[in-house]
Amino acid sequence: MEWVVWALRLVLGILTAPVHLLGVLGLWAPLCQRYFPPCMRWLSARYNEEMAGTKRALFGGLPGRARTPGRLTLLELGCGSGANFAFFPAGTAVTCVDPNPGFERLVRRSLEAHPHVRGLAFLRASAERLPRVPDASVDAVVCTLVLCSVSSLGDVLREVRRVLRTGGAFYFLEHVAAEPNTWTAFWQQVLAPTWRLIFDGCDLTRETWKALERAGFSELQLQRIQAPVSWKIIRPHIVGFAVK
Ligand SMILES: C[S@@+](CC[C@H](N)C(=O)[O-])C[C@H]1O[C@@H](n2cnc3c(N)ncnc32)[C@H](O)[C@@H]1O
Repeated sequence: MEWVVWALRLVLGILTAPVHLLGVLGLWAPLCQRYFPPCMRWLSARYNEEMAGTKRALFGGLPGRARTPGRLTLLELGCGSGANFAFFPAGTAVTCVDPNPGFERLVRRSLEAHPHVRGLAFLRASAERLPRVPDASVDAVVCTLVLCSVSSLGDVLREVRRVLRTGGAFYFLEHVAAEPNTWTAFWQQVLAPTWRLIFDGCDLTRETWKALERAGFSELQLQRIQAPVSWKIIRPHIVGFAVK
């Protein structure tokens, strides 16, 4: 089966050769940085419609994490366009982290549309290194559809544990690698190299749950689900939370 994957990757690579060429020349990344925020805003709105029930259930646990009731301090990694604000409890004070500055304007717009959430800061940074966020300073860390793109899961989860207060929790909702020997796993393998380029570093085949299991949280609640999203290729998801 391996050779079929490689043959199909080659065909796809030829069909998308101009994009790969721009990638090799280093011209694709800046282009991607520009087109990704508006595309992501549109895609996130659609994802929110399809995943509203899952997000409501997941983020329903957030109010209980606030050290001071009604005043949750939250750090959102890879906040994108601020698509999760609608699901945060009233009184949330959020610090947003994203390496792409193109999202800042969209985050501001989302904050205006969701006045129950207060924006503390937009940090243009990668989640692997957050020197501006003090140790044990937040009640909750949130990320959705981000861990597929980070360059080091280990470093990100170390930062998450550092910035969380004891008893605080990390809430995640992420698409992941499909069960082996399924058609979804097969097509994920075929599409992965081109997908990574077009979707700003997103890895379709990441086994994110393994890093979460190794990260040393005191409690891990993790469920594997088939998300009710229209793109079958990203239906395998993990959802849950990890407590420091
Ligand atoms: C697929 S989008 C998801 C956006 C948003 N979380 C949502 O659910 O709509 C992935 C986001 O992760 C961000 N990202 C990529 N690499 C990152 C990193 N190393 N640290 C933090 N954010 C990152 C991207 O800029 C983008 O905003």
